[in-house]
Amino acid sequence: MIDVHCHVLPAVDDGCSEFGSAYKTLRDAVEEGISDVILTPHFIKDKYINDKDTLLMHYETFKRRIESELPLKLYYGNELNVDKDLPLNLKENRCCTLNNGRYLLLEFPMRQREYYDYYDSCANELLKMGYKVIVCHPERYDFDDLFNIIDKWLDKGCILQLNQDSLFNKFKDNAIRLLNEDKISLIASDSHVRLKRYVTMIDAFKMVEELYGHDRVELLCNINPRNILENREI
Ligand SMILES: [Fe+2]
Repeated sequence: MIDVHCHVLPAVDDGCSEFGSAYKTLRDAVEEGISDVILTPHFIKDKYINDKDTLLMHYETFKRRIESELPLKLYYGNELNVDKDLPLNLKENRCCTLNNGRYLLLEFPMRQREYYDYYDSCANELLKMGYKVIVCHPERYDFDDLFNIIDKWLDKGCILQLNQDSLFNKFKDNAIRLLNEDKISLIASDSHVRLKRYVTMIDAFKMVEELYGHDRVELLCNINPRNILENREI
């Protein structure tokens, strides 16, 4: 499996806080059958470290060490918080797409439905700039009209990424509805801290395989993530 969304790069956001827990989390990932991981620290203005050069240096050191100890390939990207400055930040190379390709991970605020149009105009601009916008974990947003909003994202060409643990928590009904309606293009871990997310990746794989068949789970967990990683059409 290929995971395009996780917060394992240590001490840069609300994910793993130090090397030891990051190493153990990735060792779990290997045991779950994951071969490639894009590390996607949050890019949120004024909240986390936003200096790209500092982050990339830290990433390169971490990647070298992990790849020498585990059978895993690491890549870099950001989970980008939707923000009016985001198009400019991308243009001026202050934050990252997934593995330097056209695909980017975009997160909306979980609530604040009243500001949705404002945030949505940022997504429109990113699409106009030619980026392939992946909306993270649509099943988790707390909007009364969530499914209308999700259809708007799809209509304008966004791609939807489900969090695998949503199949086992309070977001399960939303997750299953989106899978039933074939609106999800990929499943990722959004792993933060060991024993919280990666441990269910294989269970999610099995559940989706049982419900929708082997071809579908391959598409969502391997084929589409691989195409995103390698910057090909999905
Ligand atoms: Fe995330």
